[in-house]
Amino acid sequence: MNFSDGLKFLQEGIRENTTVGAIWPSSPALCARMAEPVFRDRSDAPLRILEVGAGLGPVSEILLPQLRAGDAYDIVELNPNFCAHLRARFGGSAVEIHELSILDWPTQRGAHAAPYDRIVSGLPLANFPADLVEQVYRTFFRLLEPDGFFVMFEYLVIRQALATVTVGAERRRVRRILEIEEHLRPLQREQIDILTNVPPARVRVRGRPAEPGDFVL
Ligand SMILES: C[S@@+](CC[C@H](N)C(=O)[O-])C[C@H]1O[C@@H](n2cnc3c(N)ncnc32)[C@H](O)[C@@H]1O
Repeated sequence: MNFSDGLKFLQEGIRENTTVGAIWPSSPALCARMAEPVFRDRSDAPLRILEVGAGLGPVSEILLPQLRAGDAYDIVELNPNFCAHLRARFGGSAVEIHELSILDWPTQRGAHAAPYDRIVSGLPLANFPADLVEQVYRTFFRLLEPDGFFVMFEYLVIRQALATVTVGAERRRVRRILEIEEHLRPLQREQIDILTNVPPARVRVRGRPAEPGDFVL
């Protein structure tokens, strides 16, 4: 990721503040930690991987060279400018890039498509309306294999600080998101804090509930 890519990200981050949710791509340390669980302990079986919210591709660039024959790698990214960049950068490799919202992906993909073993998410959930956060998690559960998992990150302290300093609808939004996160606690497999990111971030690895339809968020 060079400086001019960083400026491209900054431009989108300012223009599409809610959906991009950052002004600079994630640090190499954060991207490496997001990528690390994906191929850890893999068996000989091919893996189906979905990356959501890839931005300019700092996590994809770590994961794509590690794919083996038979693995499948989809990127679902909402932003057309990021998608154009990803196509120019990774086109021709094993990755398929889909320009749409993750919420529309299960329908677009079709009911009979095989579930994913891993989902890697760069979505800025703290920026989203609480209902959207709920729908994103439900979509992840729907797309995952029963013993699959998803990797995501959040910025440390930001949600807790917002829940304290905001008022009215914004406070209710943030508190509801914290409540949803609390409900997800039993699904958590690991977490690690990355202090060498601005702002510092927490990477979480979470599994899927046994019966996603019954899971109350
Ligand atoms: C914080 S950026 C992360 C970019 C990159 N993964 C990184 O770490 O630098 C969030 C990304 O999520 C994308 N995004 C936001 N809402 C989305 C949605 N509903 N479906 C798919 N992608 C979405 C944005 O366009 C943006 O690229």
